[in-house]
Amino acid sequence: MSSFSVEWLNLRESYDRRARNPQVLAAVASLLQSKSAIRLVDLACGAGSTLRTLTPHLPARQHWDLVDNDPRLLDVACRGNVSDNISLHAIQLDINENFEAALRQPSDLITISALLDLVSEAWLERFARHAASRALPVYAALSYDGRIELSPSDPADAAVTAAVNAHQHTDKGFGPALGPSGGIAAISRFEALAYSVLRGNSDWVIGTADQEIQIDLLNGWGAAAREVGSLSGQDIDNWLDRRRTAVARRASTMRVGHVDFFATPSTMR
Ligand SMILES: C[S@@+](CC[C@H](N)C(=O)[O-])C[C@H]1O[C@@H](n2cnc3c(N)ncnc32)[C@H](O)[C@@H]1O
Repeated sequence: MSSFSVEWLNLRESYDRRARNPQVLAAVASLLQSKSAIRLVDLACGAGSTLRTLTPHLPARQHWDLVDNDPRLLDVACRGNVSDNISLHAIQLDINENFEAALRQPSDLITISALLDLVSEAWLERFARHAASRALPVYAALSYDGRIELSPSDPADAAVTAAVNAHQHTDKGFGPALGPSGGIAAISRFEALAYSVLRGNSDWVIGTADQEIQIDLLNGWGAAAREVGSLSGQDIDNWLDRRRTAVARRASTMRVGHVDFFATPSTMR
């Protein structure tokens, strides 16, 4: 079972949706527009954010295989999205063990979002080679890329960000994680496998009114920094106090860097 709560995935969904790179999304839609019916596989689908975002941009008849190891998230992902033209199939699967099992049927597109920062280099290599062997296009959205910009700035921001990014490399269930380099590593890997890759930034832009997500992010970053141990607990507490005060005063904004890409195999060009 994963540690990603429905509440957190719901909270981030609107920020993800606004952040998704429009050129990358348009390229995905353009590739599939001539088909009357399509089959997609969403790996690590969570509560269904990618499904909800993509369906209006794609041909009317869609079949989605929704894959996650967390049955609670799969349950949420499959609720409320069904129309006569869109069918959903939940697949509970540990994709570290055996993502290949979800890709046995022919499909038009693999989607992944907010995943590549969690995976290891070995998993990425296995995934990219498998996708290439089946000539499957891949839309990978919202890979965190290590950039955290906070306003107003604070003297401890850089040290906390460095600790958070160090924590990103710890094992998230796939072996040592690629963390902030996951998105770029995947782009390089697909290009090396003769894919054509369109990439674009998809940063979260978080305003002064967005207090709930700011507090959640600060709590998560504080906990990650504590685990890394490069700052004292007192320094982290003081930083959190100053940042939470700025949020409460509606004086705090954040930009969190992400990257999206769409990789198409050479046989489709
Ligand atoms: C950051 S969430 C992203 C969810 C969704 N793609 C989104 O964009 O909202 C990461 C997802 O990966 C799933 N996950 C993590 N490890 C997994 C594994 N080994 N097998 C299958 N799913 C996994 C989690 O359950 C969670 O849904």
